[in-house]
Amino acid sequence: MFVLGLQGSPRTKGNTSVLLSVYLAEAERLGAQTECLDVAKKNISPCKECGTCEKKGFCPIEDDMQEIYPLLRRADIIVMATPVFFYGPTAQIKALIDRSQALWARRYVHGLIDPGRKWRRGFLLSLGATKGKNLFEGVNLTAKYFFDAVGADFDGSLTYNQIEASGDIEKHPTALTDAKEKARALVAPFLRRKKALFVCRENACRSQMASAFAQFHAGDKIEAESAGSAPAKEINPVMEEVMREKGIDMAFRRPKSIEETARLWKPDLIISMGCKDAYPYFPGVPNEEWNLEDPAEKPISFMREIRDKTEKKVSALIAGAG
Ligand SMILES: Cc1cc2nc3c(=O)[nH]c(=O)nc-3n(C[C@H](O)[C@H](O)[C@H](O)COP(=O)(O)O)c2cc1C
Repeated sequence: MFVLGLQGSPRTKGNTSVLLSVYLAEAERLGAQTECLDVAKKNISPCKECGTCEKKGFCPIEDDMQEIYPLLRRADIIVMATPVFFYGPTAQIKALIDRSQALWARRYVHGLIDPGRKWRRGFLLSLGATKGKNLFEGVNLTAKYFFDAVGADFDGSLTYNQIEASGDIEKHPTALTDAKEKARALVAPFLRRKKALFVCRENACRSQMASAFAQFHAGDKIEAESAGSAPAKEINPVMEEVMREKGIDMAFRRPKSIEETARLWKPDLIISMGCKDAYPYFPGVPNEEWNLEDPAEKPISFMREIRDKTEKKVSALIAGAG
């Protein structure tokens, strides 16, 4: 499982950074893969309100946000961490939030559902210098709508007032232990999932569809990954189109090699679409062979046939796993 932390303070060793590090370290100790994104160090332009995402479903601004969209889509848990600046989040993290309008548009204008949407969770960490009763109202509201845009359920927050100078958060009587506890509570259910790896040659059609269906229908019970023995550069656009017909959004996915997957992750079950090359990387791991014919370079009607067969097989797998 993957936890993405968005560190929104420009002070990279400040209070927000310390609090988020403790949260992520605990998640990692329990077995999660984590990444802390120092948002202030990224090149993220503010949204220009050009309307391209609403018309075409993507953001045309070429900056670091293009690497961040896939991370937002891959994460099981997104932790937004920000100090309060003028009753809202920092400008750096606000730029990232505004640019997530592209994901909002895919969901609410284009009617596409990201396969991880039902299961992804969002958590807010925030702090500010003063005591004001409404200090966190702004960041809480912004977090709520940000998490909705990126397809995550807002699972709660930890907020601390009277935290001003660097180091104040470490002097707080409970903040660091609270962060560990919240990390444990949110991460634990994800770690109980069965890990299924779907493999084919290019990781561009069959194994991508299978992992997306598994995630979509049973992301709470199955942690689905996919990989290929000879990964293509990009996922197959015809596959993307037939999944779009089912309302499932395959954007921001990329083919991965079996080696790359094996470095980070060990499955409980390998399902081969017709390529057994993964088995030597995971000796002793149980496997299944689905023998689905490769739909690449074939008419779209055949891609649809393989999509539907894949979904049926995934449903049977879920019923068995249940
Ligand atoms: C530009 C700016 C605006 C701020 N606005 C607020 C505010 O509205 N309310 C508040 O309580 N603290 C405010 N603060 C204080 C910070 O929230 C506080 O110092 C916090 O601990 C900084 O977190 P960091 O160490 O993670 O950067 C502001 C600080 C700056 C630099």
